[in-house]
Amino acid sequence: MSYLDLAVQVAQEFAQAYGRSPRWIVAAPGRVNVIGEHTDYNDGFVLPMAIERYAIMAADKAANGRDVIQIRDVSGVEPVLIDVSAPVKPGMPKWGNYPRGVIAGCLARGINPGGLDVLLHSTVPLGGGLSSSAALEVCTATLLEAITGKKMDPVDKALLCQKAEHEFAGVPCGIMDQFISVMGRENHLLLLDCRSRKTELVAVNDPAVQLLIANTNVKHELANGEYASRRAQCEAASTILGVDSLRDATAGALENARSKMDDVVFRRARHVIGEIERTLHAADGIRASNWPTVGQLMYASHYSLRDDYEVSCKELDVLVEIAESIGIQGGIYGCRMTGGGFGGCAVALVKRDSVTEIKKRMASDYKTKTGIEATIFVSHPAGGATVVRGAGAI
Ligand code: GLA
Repeated sequence: MSYLDLAVQVAQEFAQAYGRSPRWIVAAPGRVNVIGEHTDYNDGFVLPMAIERYAIMAADKAANGRDVIQIRDVSGVEPVLIDVSAPVKPGMPKWGNYPRGVIAGCLARGINPGGLDVLLHSTVPLGGGLSSSAALEVCTATLLEAITGKKMDPVDKALLCQKAEHEFAGVPCGIMDQFISVMGRENHLLLLDCRSRKTELVAVNDPAVQLLIANTNVKHELANGEYASRRAQCEAASTILGVDSLRDATAGALENARSKMDDVVFRRARHVIGEIERTLHAADGIRASNWPTVGQLMYASHYSLRDDYEVSCKELDVLVEIAESIGIQGGIYGCRMTGGGFGGCAVALVKRDSVTEIKKRMASDYKTKTGIEATIFVSHPAGGATVVRGAGAI
């Protein structure tokens, strides 16, 4: 569903929940990372795109006139109440820590909307590795911008949202997810240099290809602790190599230092150094519409994440094996796990003509091999966060 159609639905849901029409509606997309995994916190490159799955908020000034932001979710989970007349701190329910962290950051910048009644509806699957949390953060920031008329610089906005995730949700994420949710552009991938924070839009011009997303529908518990330990291992490798970050290391220098580090640290660094290179090559391949090359880079990324970085899992590997067995003949150029890992989604570069067949075959083979139903869909590269309805538009 497009965000415009979704907005119409959310306006109705707001009216049911609060008994009047919303004055503001904003949307922020989830993302899929085409390549460049676990490189963002190593100052490397990433190549994500925003997807046609959104966190949407509809809002009006608080009916009771209090300085409290009330956020209800259409799923009926416990609502979040945030008192904006006092310092905002993490609290319960836990899902509220994403908007809380963003609101705290906005208040610190003088962006204070006062009390609000808000309804949230998200179509980004939770825990699916498609950045449902970044979408929620960026959606909250966009709502406060729309209401106060104070627009932040996009980089500043993305960093504010990342800080919310670090300090309020306790997840030491990199900058990719928030950047793409803010800066996505229709029909483009975003090549982001995570060191300089410079971005370059890479057009996907060929109507014969599409990105297909397959959700394993599993999320393994260890994800958060393992993420933090990967970051620490990368820092250990940088220290041994005498560089600020693995962005500055080369495969040759790593090989020369092999005896100075344990095998796990060596393999983590090998993944990151190789992945940064693959990402730049993939961007070139996309510019040239050289799909077989891009596909091979995606497979290579997966093997490296599976064997060296060890963030894949059986279900993701099964999806990639199915993709390989379908092959280019069956319409798949390449496939890899996407996002942090340990479950969530795989992304495949496919021929548009073959999408229906591929979806059928992937779903049935995955069910046979794992006993689990996958959720499979295609998405065009979508635009970044947007104000669908502003104060003047009603
Ligand atoms: C998660 C983080 C991102 C990035 C990816 C791995 O999605 O939020 O910052 O590190 O994992 O590429």
